[in-house]
Amino acid sequence: MQTMDPWWKSAVVYQIYPRSFADADGDGVGDLRGIIAHLDHLAGLGVDVIWLSPIYPSPQDDNGYDISDYQDIDPLFGDLDVFDELLAGVHARGMKLVMDLVVNHSSDEHPWFLESRSDKASPKRDWYWWRPAREGMEPGTPGAEPTNWTAAFGGSAWEFDDKTGEYYLHLFSRKQPDLNWENEEVRQAVHTMMRWWLDRGVDGFRMDVINLISKDTALPDGPVAGTAVFPESAAGYVNGPRVHEFLHEMHEEVFAGRDAVLTVGEMPGVTIEEAVRFTDPRRRELDMVFQFDHVWADRGDDPWQLVPLKLTRLKAILGRWQAGLAEHGWNSLYWNNHDQPRAVSRYGDDSPAHRVASAKMLGTVLHMHRGTPYVYQGEELGMTNYPFETIADFRDIESLGQYAEAVERDGRSPEEVLTVLRARGRDNARTPMQWDASPHAGFTTGRPWLAVNPNHTRINAAAQRDDPDSTYHYYRRLIALRHTEPAVVDGDFTMLLPHDERLYAFTRRLGATELLVIGNFTGRRVRAEIEDAAAWSSAELLLTNEAAPSADLTLAPWQAVVYRRTVEA
Ligand code: GLC
Repeated sequence: MQTMDPWWKSAVVYQIYPRSFADADGDGVGDLRGIIAHLDHLAGLGVDVIWLSPIYPSPQDDNGYDISDYQDIDPLFGDLDVFDELLAGVHARGMKLVMDLVVNHSSDEHPWFLESRSDKASPKRDWYWWRPAREGMEPGTPGAEPTNWTAAFGGSAWEFDDKTGEYYLHLFSRKQPDLNWENEEVRQAVHTMMRWWLDRGVDGFRMDVINLISKDTALPDGPVAGTAVFPESAAGYVNGPRVHEFLHEMHEEVFAGRDAVLTVGEMPGVTIEEAVRFTDPRRRELDMVFQFDHVWADRGDDPWQLVPLKLTRLKAILGRWQAGLAEHGWNSLYWNNHDQPRAVSRYGDDSPAHRVASAKMLGTVLHMHRGTPYVYQGEELGMTNYPFETIADFRDIESLGQYAEAVERDGRSPEEVLTVLRARGRDNARTPMQWDASPHAGFTTGRPWLAVNPNHTRINAAAQRDDPDSTYHYYRRLIALRHTEPAVVDGDFTMLLPHDERLYAFTRRLGATELLVIGNFTGRRVRAEIEDAAAWSSAELLLTNEAAPSADLTLAPWQAVVYRRTVEA
């Protein structure tokens, strides 16, 4: 890690959500053998790294983001032998494997927590955040919680435990108690576990909500226990006082001497200034972070109101991140993951007329930024959101928790809440991977744990592999461009047309090579009014999803173009 020219700068990462990828044993849940069976799909796409969402033993309260044993595989997915087979299969194809590291919290069924909960005098008591009721309040009564912090999945972040008469902290579900990183033994246990996986051959970690691990030990109340999940002002735990120290220590304890490792920290509420500190190689913390500004750009003050996304806002946000990390640090680039709705339904147009073009356009714009792009399973097929009808169609703990709170507690109308969950709910990303047109999309021979999108008869991998014009083959060419064109990796980034609500345009410049990237975010023809349009239109067209534009650079609906020219150095 962090040599002069780290390999991950020219890499593309593919995220697998194992429960929804491919089911080999017919129980309706994806598994490791299913992944092994489809490794050639990924090698064919040309990705360099696979990131696996959690596969460790877990009660599956949050689909594996609640871990009860960090050094094993959940029988739902396989066992350590199958894991080794998968790892060997990945390496044999020249790819790398990155694990999800979920250590802000464990499961409440982890032996550490069971021990911690058993007795105030337990040696593991201090491994979690136990606190008495607020001064003068009756323990377990409303308002007696130690702080006003709210949990991401609804309700208070504190759970009262009868056994010892104290509360424990959980920023997510009550089955995800937060680990106390102030305790040195906790940190050592995490480091030991991480080294164990690296020694086994894994190539790095995606670190779940890692900017929440350091809490202000005074545990101050928040300004408002409002509805925004991680406001930048969130009291006491977003980018807490010791987070840089903890990550630097982890770097020294775990990654020192292991140059080929990739680390990416998921960081809701991280600012650009903080991200520079996290990813500046001289500080030896992380390689890159996932920021949330661009995926929160269509959130309003009222979470149950859909705010249409303004392209100028999206460009301003991503442009700021490009500029902010230009000198030191490195960006990660994503539209999708298992927590976000499908990009083509959110930023593009998933109607039959425009779905393919807009999916390709979105991929082009994202991948041509400076940073390491992440492709989420099914994105390479242009998979869409799911047509959810009622709340009973959802399985996601977040959607269910927020629905209960909004409808049952706050009296919102179910339809109002469902409208937002249909557009934004996490299960949109979690419907099974669409391998073919057969009844369960080739995902399982059993009953899928979450419904398959009915559009799998039209949108599936088998059909796209045979079609050179498919989204899959377009992504293949897009990914290859990063491997062959150094300006994509290292070129300077300059945003063009910042006030234009229709076009996303920028240049990349490395030495004498200049690239021009334009994406049309509308279903209409739009002329790109940029300097040098005529000269650019006769430059080399490296990639486009439509016919070459006319000399005045008029783009077709949802068209993307990447031009290359040589300029005076
Ligand atoms: C991260 C994960 C999300 C999970 C949460 C709690 O945001 O991506 O899926 O619910 O952390 O672990």
